[in-house]
Amino acid sequence: MKLPLAGVIGCPVGHSRSPILHGAWLKQYGLRGHYVPLHVEADDLERVLRAMPAMGFVGANVTIPHKEAALALADEVSDTARQIGAANTLSFRDGRIHADNTDAYGFMQNLRDGTPGWRPETSPALVLGAGGAARAVLVALTQAGVPEILLTNRTRSRADELARALGDPIRVLDWESYAQALPQAGLVINTTSLGMDGQPPLGLPTEALNPDCVVTDIVYTPLETQLLRDAKARGCRVVDGLGMLLHQAVPGFERWFGIRPEVTVDLRRAVLEQ
Ligand code: ATR
Repeated sequence: MKLPLAGVIGCPVGHSRSPILHGAWLKQYGLRGHYVPLHVEADDLERVLRAMPAMGFVGANVTIPHKEAALALADEVSDTARQIGAANTLSFRDGRIHADNTDAYGFMQNLRDGTPGWRPETSPALVLGAGGAARAVLVALTQAGVPEILLTNRTRSRADELARALGDPIRVLDWESYAQALPQAGLVINTTSLGMDGQPPLGLPTEALNPDCVVTDIVYTPLETQLLRDAKARGCRVVDGLGMLLHQAVPGFERWFGIRPEVTVDLRRAVLEQ
């Protein structure tokens, strides 16, 4: 029997924490197998993917800039991956490439883990940003039954496009006036790059938040962004972005290596110490 291999395909890929994450699980569960970073140029993607099963690969994660291309190349695509318009988890079975996207699952699982008792179907959510990460978040919120999703982005046309593609219950707000929606929001999500190390802060007026609101950030460098710090001071429950990365990896690991792994405090530490 071949030693099962999996990896993360990106360009660049050196920054990816996935090898540490999957490596920690392989070790924890005493499994034979390896998970490796694979730097692949866009022009080589299809050739590489088609060759991987013969080398012992059972699957792969896909990261920037290949998520859309991987979806297009796949032989089978899950409903969620199609809705998000991108793939992050591939499995090789019977000579075919199966594409899925586990970002929406990871996002929602992280939120549920961090806020026991929180009920997404009870109040509106406000999503800041309309890039690739926003798409997975919007799909997750729609699947969870959030009754109203308010979407705002500096470049309004990108938000309009997403709302058109994904439909109900998304409504677009102008970036300049999104603060009006803060008192009613039960959940606020930053999917922009603002607040990341080296970027300007988001500058959300947290004094307008309802203290019952849950606030989360896709950014996890730093782990506690200014947004999360200020929201916590306001009395809100906050969830950092690292958990989304950890939870999105669970379904892939289970498919490739046969054990559903746990997201624990020790795992968080191992990934942070990288
Ligand atoms: P990704 O696909 O990883 O989400 P992206 O497509 O570059 O990355 O999206 C980054 C998000 O951060 C976008 O919503 C972007 O807004 P624009 O669509 O207007 O570019 C947002 N963003 C980045 N810098 C910003 C800034 N200075 N002010 C407001 N929004 C910003």
